[in-house]
Amino acid sequence: MKITVVGAGAVGATCADNIARRELAEELVLLDIKEGIAEGKAMDMMQTMTMNGFDTKVIGSTNDYSKTAGSSVVVITSGIPRKPGMTREELIGTNASIVKGVTENILKYSPDAIIVVISNPMDTMTYLALKASGLPKNRIIGMGGILDSARFKYYLSQSLNCSANDLQGVVIGGHGDTTMIPLTRLATLNSLPVSNLLSAEQLSQISADTMVGGATLTKFMGTSAWYAPGAAGAILVESIVRDEKKVFPCCVSLEGEYGQSDICLGVPVVIGKNGWEKIVDYKLTADEQAAFNKSADAVRNMNEVLSTLSL
Ligand code: LAC
Repeated sequence: MKITVVGAGAVGATCADNIARRELAEELVLLDIKEGIAEGKAMDMMQTMTMNGFDTKVIGSTNDYSKTAGSSVVVITSGIPRKPGMTREELIGTNASIVKGVTENILKYSPDAIIVVISNPMDTMTYLALKASGLPKNRIIGMGGILDSARFKYYLSQSLNCSANDLQGVVIGGHGDTTMIPLTRLATLNSLPVSNLLSAEQLSQISADTMVGGATLTKFMGTSAWYAPGAAGAILVESIVRDEKKVFPCCVSLEGEYGQSDICLGVPVVIGKNGWEKIVDYKLTADEQAAFNKSADAVRNMNEVLSTLSL
């Protein structure tokens, strides 16, 4: 088993580190366009083997895609991250051509790969990867909802003074400050609805905090986050390579499911060896469906920007 992570920035390197520690593959290739950065980070990770107790071989590559040949899963993190005050959507001009180029290069050497897209604006980059690659839809998965759900559970745990590991909570819709939809109605603390424990005001504050979770971190650090995005990418890869059939909210191509078509958007899906294998219908209420439709409209507007770019 071979896995590639494209982009050795903070998110890509953290994702690679998590993949290596979990020993999800015999070989892990980290590729970046910037001279030496992937080789250096790969070597640094290899030097943690004896301390972290993994045997995955990590290989760095400066833009040599032949090293990625035969990868089963490829994670794309390439592109610029946002700066404080920026939305993810503002990155489209720079990141669209990068993601398109990376997708094409990857498929030259790994035509059977399942592609995980993390680059922002993620929903539009996933749609672009789907269109540019012509791959079957099940092999293109955008990672946003796992991260947003982890942040949702973090904020819930802070209010409930409980372990986030005792919480179930899912965020669907787009991976944008105004497009994500934390499903507060369905969130539970060990099967007990959190709405029994928190007021409507508290839940609405938690939703609002979740939606700007990434922006809050960007404001703190001057650049976007990496620990949780990288870990989220790795658990998605884990469910693919171990064929775990976990249900995660992921950005996938919709063809009528959740009332939407010709769009990639976050919905709960079963993740296994074939990529995303099934969309799970959470039976949204009318209000939730209205929020989902609004989210789809915003993402669709962003997708339309793609046709104005010379890609
Ligand atoms: C975030 C970026 C990675 O939400 O989208 O932190």
